[in-house]
Amino acid sequence: MAEPAAHHPGEYRTGSDPRTLRAALGCFATGVTIVTCLDQNDEPVGLTANSFTSVSLDPPLLLVCVDKRAASARALTAAGHFAVNVLQTGQQPASSRFATKDQDRFGSTPWSPGEFGPPVLRESLGVFECATHAVHNGGDHHIVIGQVLRASFDPVLDPLLYFRGRYRRLHFD
Ligand SMILES: Cc1cc2nc3c(=O)[nH]c(=O)nc-3n(C[C@H](O)[C@H](O)[C@H](O)COP(=O)(O)O)c2cc1C
Repeated sequence: MAEPAAHHPGEYRTGSDPRTLRAALGCFATGVTIVTCLDQNDEPVGLTANSFTSVSLDPPLLLVCVDKRAASARALTAAGHFAVNVLQTGQQPASSRFATKDQDRFGSTPWSPGEFGPPVLRESLGVFECATHAVHNGGDHHIVIGQVLRASFDPVLDPLLYFRGRYRRLHFD
């Protein structure tokens, strides 16, 4: 069984069903981002990712893990620049679009070219425009590390969250 029944703790061990590990990892609540770049033909490329993590303040580094099987993987690991668009609650449709095959991702999402090339999604909660610093091997994912060249953010909007495989929102007040 992939997910533990309500009130029964789940447990993963080496050799268990990987869906149990996925369920365990899903107890770490995250925000949601769309990572974008330009491919070799200068066409916009992007995918939804919640593996975003800050790495270092000096130098300013962040990372995102990209599935090696993702169609965007080649462009994202080859690009000299990429952008991490941190989503707000109103961008849930964009998150779904950028996580689904055969969608007109950029045709249906307001965006404009960022200062360094990669597309910036308008109405995002925050945008980190990066130069690619390193790409490391991370098992079935690439670990893409970016040096932040510019970070812009909205002081008011609420974040789109992801927890136990579902979108969530803050509800402190
Ligand atoms: C909330 C959420 C988070 C995701 N996080 C990641 C991630 O961190 N890395 C990744 O490679 N795919 C992630 N995905 C899956 C990709 O968005 C999805 O496989 C997408 O279709 C890949 O697009 P592509 O094959 O066109 O590159 C996530 C999907 C969702 C819905």
